[in-house]
Amino acid sequence: MLPHMAQAEDFSQPVLPGDAPSDYERYLRTEELLALQKEPEEQSHPDELLFQTVHQSSELWLKLATSEIARATAHVRAGELAAAVRLLRRSSLCMQYVTAQLDMLEQMSPWEYQTLRRVLGHGSGFDSPGFRQIRRVSPALGDAFEDAVAAAGLTIDDVYVHGREHEELYQLAEGLIEWDERVANWRIRHYRVVARIIGDRVVGTQGTPVEVLGRMIHKQLYPDLWEVRNRLTALAKESD
Ligand code: HEM
Repeated sequence: MLPHMAQAEDFSQPVLPGDAPSDYERYLRTEELLALQKEPEEQSHPDELLFQTVHQSSELWLKLATSEIARATAHVRAGELAAAVRLLRRSSLCMQYVTAQLDMLEQMSPWEYQTLRRVLGHGSGFDSPGFRQIRRVSPALGDAFEDAVAAAGLTIDDVYVHGREHEELYQLAEGLIEWDERVANWRIRHYRVVARIIGDRVVGTQGTPVEVLGRMIHKQLYPDLWEVRNRLTALAKESD
């Protein structure tokens, strides 16, 4: 080989640290990831793969969603509102994916699900790390938003009535309500799926009546941002 010719790179060989045969598998740790579901001989029912896939992938999307909420909160605190809005869009999209995945559960037969249900122990979505994280990080975002509005010498009503003059705060307010709405949409959809699979007058694996889930669909992360809509309607009526 001539001295000035660079050695051709062999793209077929992995260069990342690890034992897996390719860099794809090393970087993504596919061996560990794909070992997290029961093997067929361990399953009580073949639908366990569907059930575990939906739940495990939901936890991953929720991990991303809540990580972006926490990052967005730090941006709001630093006065970087556009950067926060960009991240909130991601979180809401994650929640849409998690909601869409619920469709897959309705592919299970309600009777056959009863077999699977027996191996869940007292497992319940109340202990979902992803949803626990939603409950943990969402209030801090609301506080940061309220402080940003107050620091601008405004009220939430001003942000909406004079939205064009406070474009970034307005976009941020809408980013928060979008997140809130996506979480609520998940609850509504989850309630319907639960009612379709196990019924609406039974108790769950952790003893919670399904009726309670029906009531939880009214939960709001940012009640003030919903309340402002009522005030705007009243204000508009006054000026008619
Ligand atoms: C066959 C599918 C499902 C059924 C039958 C079901 C059933 C239930 C029931 C009965 C409850 C009330 C608590 C209890 O267990 O006693 C509950 C709560 C919950 N489930 Fe599910 N669930 C299903 C799928 C999912 C999925 C895919 C997720 C997403 C990770 C999830 C997340 C939750 C959460 C977060 C709660 C707490 C309620 C809330 O925060 O709104 N569930 N589920």
